[in-house]
Amino acid sequence: MSTNNVWTHKGTFLLAAVGSAVGLGNLWRFPYLAGENGGGAFLLVYALTIFAVGIPILIAETMLGRNSRRSPIMGMRFLTRTHHTSRAWESIGWLGAVSAFVILSFYSVIAGWAIHYTGLMLSGGLIDADAERVAASFDVLLASPPLLALYHSLFIGASALIVGLGVHRGIENGLRILMPALFVILMVVLAYAVMIGDMAAAADFLFTFHLADLSLEGWLEAMGQSFFTLSLGMGAIMAYGAYMSGDASLTGTAFTVAIVDTAVALVAGLAIFALVFGAGLDPAEGPGLMFVTLPLAFGEMPGGTLLGAVFFLLVLGAALSSAISLIEPVAAYLVERFDLSRPQAVSAMVVASWALGLLTVFSFNAWASDSPFHELFGRSPFAVLELLTNIFMPLGGLLIALFAGWVLTHGEVTKEMRTGASWFRVWRLLVRFVAPAAVAFVFLRSIPQVQGYWVPAIGAAVIVGAFAAAHSFLVERHGS
Ligand code: TRP
Repeated sequence: MSTNNVWTHKGTFLLAAVGSAVGLGNLWRFPYLAGENGGGAFLLVYALTIFAVGIPILIAETMLGRNSRRSPIMGMRFLTRTHHTSRAWESIGWLGAVSAFVILSFYSVIAGWAIHYTGLMLSGGLIDADAERVAASFDVLLASPPLLALYHSLFIGASALIVGLGVHRGIENGLRILMPALFVILMVVLAYAVMIGDMAAAADFLFTFHLADLSLEGWLEAMGQSFFTLSLGMGAIMAYGAYMSGDASLTGTAFTVAIVDTAVALVAGLAIFALVFGAGLDPAEGPGLMFVTLPLAFGEMPGGTLLGAVFFLLVLGAALSSAISLIEPVAAYLVERFDLSRPQAVSAMVVASWALGLLTVFSFNAWASDSPFHELFGRSPFAVLELLTNIFMPLGGLLIALFAGWVLTHGEVTKEMRTGASWFRVWRLLVRFVAPAAVAFVFLRSIPQVQGYWVPAIGAAVIVGAFAAAHSFLVERHGS
């Protein structure tokens, strides 16, 4: 029952993987994390983890997809059978499906804000606004459940449309338009930032190396970010890898994805900080950097509204190309396992994720604080969901590294990698020992910060329970 889908060109996997990797993580998360954690020192740890942990796991995950030529859940089932090993490894596929569904639910709500800001920029609503007014307009957006739900629906609907059209007609064609457009827009934003921003201050901020500014927490943030930004550990890359041409080089592709992804984060970071410094604003705003500090800077600069609109379109497009890779693994599974049509499979996944997204919508208003939910769990639903993915993604990555490192045979791996013996040995050392140790370290360190891990445990149990119930319903209707 393997799928016959293969990307049209040898290089399409690269395009799709870059589309998945480049997203809110690069444009929104990376700049503020680097800004908060000592700039250059953060970058160094980030780069180190990308090479020692990120790239080896990226290779491993793509390899599992291409070797099985199936969606992640069916693919892992197939691999456990052909390798006569425990079916427990299927949990890689399941963990990925649950994470995809959870991440999409809140990713879509946040990406939806960019729709709002594109409109706000075009309408000139923030021209010459002072800091208070810009902050107040963000608060107004967050306080409105109907508005948030509307943008959330628009964004998730657009992603569903693309995936629903199919791997070739939807995803490939969509990426072929989106990715070059994103590149052009990024260059326009960069050129503008060079002309009117303070690039020297930005470079100084991002590249000056203050080892003292890098706390242990900063190390962990850098490692976590390198994971998140490459879309690792949750089946998205595996699903795309299943369509990868057998001729394309695994190692070369993985390096290219990591380098392009890092370059985009750096260029975006430089441009954003140049504009922020040029306007004399605070670079350490944290998560509000993109939605409060930056609009303020756009409001003050000549031609800022147009640049602002273009910038938020960039954010929107980058988020869209990531969101489609969140839908694909689950949709492909539903098609493979239950013979659903693509539109049916995509609708099932997206409607469920949309509904879960309402929890995030209400996290910024009705359930922000002193709600029963907040009292019960000590944090907003959004924070609980985010925490869940922070646990599931590294866990998935750890299992993927272990499976590829210890279960796949030497022959299979050399056939997939087609690199020299010494490269192979380096890779295997990294996925067998280094990557698992690094992930375990991040993982164990983050557990004590989770006051009471029963919070994510209950959340996970509820979501997994709902998943299992929906699944057994499908199995019953379809027969096995
Ligand atoms: N890499 C994406 C970004 O930087 C976020 C992300 C994490 C993701 N995991 C993913 C996207 C899985 C798609 C699939 O924004």
